[in-house]
Amino acid sequence: MGYNVAIDGPAGAGKSTIAKRVAKEKGFIYVDTGAMYRGMAIYFLEQKISPDEKEEIAKACQNAEVSIAYEDGEQQIYLNGKNVTALLRKEEVGKMASISSAIPEVRQKLLSLQRNLAKEKDVVMDGRDIGTNILPDADVKVYLTASSRTRANRRYLELREKNVDCNLDEIEREIIARDERDMNREIAPLKQAEDAILIDSSDLSIEEVTEKILELCK
Ligand code: DC
Repeated sequence: MGYNVAIDGPAGAGKSTIAKRVAKEKGFIYVDTGAMYRGMAIYFLEQKISPDEKEEIAKACQNAEVSIAYEDGEQQIYLNGKNVTALLRKEEVGKMASISSAIPEVRQKLLSLQRNLAKEKDVVMDGRDIGTNILPDADVKVYLTASSRTRANRRYLELREKNVDCNLDEIEREIIARDERDMNREIAPLKQAEDAILIDSSDLSIEEVTEKILELCK
C-alpha cells in the first residue's frame, strides 16, 4: 500500500493546483480523478449522447476505456487509446462530467482504476469522494473548500487571462449549480469525510494551503 493523501472539495477550491504542489514536494504521484470523469464525458459527447439520456450513458460507458499515463511528470488522459488531455478543460466537458458522474455504471468503471493506482504508489489524489469512498483508509484526508464567490472569481480571472469573454455572476451561478449536483447525487456525493481536515482557502494563499497539508503529511 502506498502513502495516500486524499483531497476532496467542490469545483474551483484549488484542489488540483495544491495537490500538484504537495505531490511535487513529497515526490508522490498526483492523480486528478476529475480528469478521468472528464475523459469519460468526452466519449459521451463524441457519441452525441445528451446529458439527460441516463440509460444511454450507462450503456455507452462500457465501451469507454479511460487510462492514465505520466509524460514529463504531467498526467495524460487516454480515451480508448487516444490522448484527450487537451480537451478536458472545456466547459461542456465539465458539465457532462458532473452529470454523468452521478450514474453508478460510470463510477464503477473508474473505481478500480483509482484504487489500484493508490495501492501501487504514493499518491495525492483529488476528487469528490476520495476520502469517503475510494480511499477510506487514506493516511491524510483534506476537505478543501472556499466560498462560491471566491471560486467564481478565480475562474473568472483564469478565463480573462485567456481572453475569454465571461461574466462573474454567471460563473458563480454555474459553480453553485455544479455544487448542488455533486453534493446531492445519490451515490458517492461530495461531502467531508468524518476524519478529514477542513481547510477553507478563501483567505489563504496557495503556499499557505500547501504548507498546511505538508504539515499533515509529517
Ligand atoms: O474536479 P473536476 O471539475 O475536474 O470534476 C469534474 C466532475 O467530475 C465533477 O463535477 C464531479 C465529477 N467527479 C466525481 O464525481 N468524483 C470525483 N472523484 C471527481 C470528479
